[in-house]
Amino acid sequence: MVETAPSAATGDTPAGDLAAEQNGERLDAVVNLCKRRGFVFQSAEIYGGFRSTYDYGPVGALMLRNVKEAWWRAMVQLRPDVVGIDAAILSPPAVWEASGHLESFTDPLVVCRECGRRHREDQLEDSELCPECGSRGTLGEPRQFNLMFRTHAGPVVETGAEVYLRPETAQGMFVNFANVQRACRLRPPFGVAQIGKSFRNEITPGNFIFRTREFEQMELEFFVPPAEASGWFEYWCAERLGWYVGLGIPEDLLRLRPHGPDERSHYSDATSDVEFRYPWGWGELEGVANRTDYDLRRHAEHSGEKLEYFDAATGERYVPHVIEPAAGATRAMMAFLLAAYHTEEVRGETRTVLRLHHRLAPYQAAVLPLSRKEHLIERARQVLGTLAPHWMVDFDVTQSIGRRYRRQDELGTPYCVTVDFETLEDGAVTVRDRDSMAQDRLAIDDLVGYLHERLAR
Ligand code: GAP
Repeated sequence: MVETAPSAATGDTPAGDLAAEQNGERLDAVVNLCKRRGFVFQSAEIYGGFRSTYDYGPVGALMLRNVKEAWWRAMVQLRPDVVGIDAAILSPPAVWEASGHLESFTDPLVVCRECGRRHREDQLEDSELCPECGSRGTLGEPRQFNLMFRTHAGPVVETGAEVYLRPETAQGMFVNFANVQRACRLRPPFGVAQIGKSFRNEITPGNFIFRTREFEQMELEFFVPPAEASGWFEYWCAERLGWYVGLGIPEDLLRLRPHGPDERSHYSDATSDVEFRYPWGWGELEGVANRTDYDLRRHAEHSGEKLEYFDAATGERYVPHVIEPAAGATRAMMAFLLAAYHTEEVRGETRTVLRLHHRLAPYQAAVLPLSRKEHLIERARQVLGTLAPHWMVDFDVTQSIGRRYRRQDELGTPYCVTVDFETLEDGAVTVRDRDSMAQDRLAIDDLVGYLHERLAR
């Protein structure tokens, strides 16, 4: 099959190229690719952009769905001990009073008297120095700034109508504990999972989609007998690290980091972060926390409802403890993109390729008619028709075949299916593998089976 660049890779820029990472080239390259190819756009860009808010474009929306789908598959579909819910985003102050977020979900905010910029005090390298304007001694006294977005329900803006946009999906699982446990007749250990939007009025959002004010979380609250909590904590730390590895992030870009006692959230007895090596250094990808019985006890106290488990067989009654693996879908997408981004020299040309796991790639295949001749396009559309019920498949008739391969490489599409003039004679197509660029010729009748074998893993 015609390809402007040849099929043998001669040089590769591995994911761990520290020099490139440190100077931010990798981040810039990924951000540029995201815009150019339609993964992520600055929100309201035509109005100058809305700071730290992003829209997911046609392929970004597909990839984000795939990240969430991969999580749901691992955490709900494949587990008989976990059920899923979809709770409301708006909630009354009582929920956040009980959870402790009204009181404790704060960051220490300092404002520079010289330039007016706001900073998180706990992120300053030098507590005297403004990192924005370089002035010394101009940072004011820290004050605790609550990160929750508050709004009003109904037409009258009054105190009684206050509602909050949830800053974590977790509370949806706690306030529904008794409903879910009874409806599904669950016995600890069992989990309740949820994926959805969360909102935090971050003082310093940034680094593209790493920290935004609106983002998506994927959280599991795993309810266990108190004596089993530390064992399950270890179990979930290992499981969650393994999930990222299984989806293609190299192990040397991941690590588990236990929190020190002064770092932990107000509800946590033990926390470990799954960290990723971002271009700016190690940072949180996901947190695994032992929340003890804090949340169920608090909600029981504040609501007056019994939130406990009664074992009719043994007569035992207890408040389950909770192990919580809490991941960000948008942050995970960023890590997957950064880890998948590769450039390599192919016969004097640079090829950029996203080596995304096929479950995460926006498209699993692309159908490319070799020319724009009507009868070829028609045949290619028939091929698309056989693949589309099984996978998300792109269809591209523009530009030379070599350029179309490059475009699919940048989208991370694992397989390109080319329909050429011989196809009209012999009913066969060429399938090109994204990573090796090797090509196989096979009958259209065998195509679904061929791809199923490779995309089911
Ligand atoms: N329920 C516990 C909880 O929310 P967290 O560590 O604050 O814990 C869990 O958040 C995950 O949510 C983080 O590890 C990160 O992946 C994601 N996350 C948190 N804040 C975020 C933000 N401002 N932007 C993007 N993702 C965020």
